Amino acid sequence: MELFQLVEEVKEKIAKVKNLAELREIEVEILGRKGKISLFLKGLKKIKALEERRRKGKEINEAKSFLTELIRRKEEILARQLEEEILKKEEIDISQPGIKPRKGHLHLITKTIWQIEEIFKKMGFAVADGPEIETPYYNFDALNIPENHPARDLWDTFWLKKKNYLLRTHTSPVQIRYMEKKNPPLRIIAPGKVFRYEATDASHEIQFHQIEGLMVDKKVSLGNFKAIIKEFFNEFFSEETDIRFRPSYFPFTEPSVEIDIKPKKTDKWLEIMGAGMVHPKVLANVKINPLEWTGFAFGAGIERLIMIKYNIPDIRLFYKGDLRFIRQF
Ligand code: DAH
Repeated sequence: MELFQLVEEVKEKIAKVKNLAELREIEVEILGRKGKISLFLKGLKKIKALEERRRKGKEINEAKSFLTELIRRKEEILARQLEEEILKKEEIDISQPGIKPRKGHLHLITKTIWQIEEIFKKMGFAVADGPEIETPYYNFDALNIPENHPARDLWDTFWLKKKNYLLRTHTSPVQIRYMEKKNPPLRIIAPGKVFRYEATDASHEIQFHQIEGLMVDKKVSLGNFKAIIKEFFNEFFSEETDIRFRPSYFPFTEPSVEIDIKPKKTDKWLEIMGAGMVHPKVLANVKINPLEWTGFAFGAGIERLIMIKYNIPDIRLFYKGDLRFIRQF
């Protein structure tokens, strides 16, 4: 093979090369110690005529430099291509808005409980709590709901296997626990979970939250309660909210009332909580003298308050864990 043929052949090969490994192979094959150029150089020895040998030698060296340069340039091109490919794979669109890591947040129920606590704290109420597993004494008897009393039917109860324990059906037992420990005057609210053994639907869950309130002092009246609860609703709904009392019955209050509210946006009376003057027997049960002290108490469903405030149609949404619901608040 003539030198010029080799050069042509190598030029073609290099043009077709697709990656650095292929190029490296050609480089070894042509310019390596045992490569084709070396063979040509060895061939020089056979040329006797000095002039001829010099000319040939010069030709071979020129071909060698030419091919070396050709390979170097191809190498540059391939290296740039490789870099571009890698960058493309890692491509990010810098015109897109940055992605903020999504932090969790408190559940609407927790947020609302905290908000309710703040409103009552401003009016001098402390926050109390009690166990979710209760005894019939605290859940019923101490609240003037004796065994066999038809009022016990009002509270469909989850009984524990361990006899004489139940899941509290309301937050009212916290009243008893608190008054057993503290002497009046006292003002508390007690938010917490309660349980009812009943069928679930859009407005009933087997587990929900209540907020209990209790104030015991000298000469406390229903009038005091009305002022306080009106202030609470005005604050909670961030607007003047009409309220009204209707006579009702609870074994642990006398008289008992049902409170309705009329938020501006509904313009309808909605039943929202039970309340009343703490029954003298309840005070006596915790060794507070009902002739000396009087008090009011109230209890409301927290989910119901939230549903009215935010127009939530179904109580079961609170517990589904559906992020589309949760992230709205
Ligand atoms: N405990 C009652 C219930 O679960 C609500 C209630 C009514 C609480 C009147 C009170 C009250 O403190 O005075 O339905």
